[in-house]
Amino acid sequence: MFYSLGFAFGLSLLLGAASAGTPATDGRIVGGMQVSTIGEFPYQASVQLNGQHICGGAVIGDHFVLTAAHCFEALEPWSVLDYSVRVGSSEHATGGHLLSLQQIIPHGGYNPQSHDNDLALLILNARLNFTEQLQAVPLASAQERPTPGTRLLVSGWGFQSEEAAAEQQIDAGSGSGAGVASILRYVDVDHVDIGQCRLAYRRVLPITQGMLCAARAGHDSCQGDSGGPLVGFQEDGRATLYGIVSWGLGCANPDYPGVYTSVAAFRRWIDAQVGAWGWNALLGGWSGVQ
Ligand code: ARG
Repeated sequence: MFYSLGFAFGLSLLLGAASAGTPATDGRIVGGMQVSTIGEFPYQASVQLNGQHICGGAVIGDHFVLTAAHCFEALEPWSVLDYSVRVGSSEHATGGHLLSLQQIIPHGGYNPQSHDNDLALLILNARLNFTEQLQAVPLASAQERPTPGTRLLVSGWGFQSEEAAAEQQIDAGSGSGAGVASILRYVDVDHVDIGQCRLAYRRVLPITQGMLCAARAGHDSCQGDSGGPLVGFQEDGRATLYGIVSWGLGCANPDYPGVYTSVAAFRRWIDAQVGAWGWNALLGGWSGVQ
């Protein structure tokens, strides 16, 4: 599946500009994140709890958003009615479309201690109409890893520094919407070999087959980016969803890469959930029961 030429062209301009000598970063952290518009990341979604941005997400179909399971561990017991998703907007707080959810399907094996199986499929209450600002991103196929020539971008409204994230935690109770960026941002990162990533985290947590690591000096995702898309772009602008922002020790810490849920590793699970929903919708239609 290809994006519109407009998007591919816009992106190559943006990538071109980034490689043409823009200062790499302003020191550590996600401060290196560039401001962007939704037209360049039309698959980006904001997952919201009681109207506050809590996580990113990726539009993967006209009824589906993929995000992290840990986005739903905050309040328990929670109701699907407390959550919504904004799509098609560069701002998480306004614009685009705000949709309610029909169902939240966290992976059954999600483990909050190990962060293993950190993904959830959201089923939207309405069918999305795709536009230049709103597109689904194709999923990595099972076993597919980013190739060396692939440009990896992670986008989101998350904290722009680890310090900001820490301060926000001290201010607990002020609601998760505060402190995150109002305009969508992105950074370039590089795929980190799983062996190297295991070594980095050897005293912290196991890096499993279901995880993928990415890092670049001064560039990282951070709190509030969770659930958001790590996408690989080929030179022709073709996009593939490889990862979901999951966890890391600090943000842009040179010793600890960002850890992402590997979409390739869960491709079968995702297909099965989407397929089951399709069958239910079809059967619901036949029996007249919605
Ligand atoms: N768990 C964080 C969240 O809830 C995402 C952390 C990503 N960390 C990193 N260093 N890449 O938003």
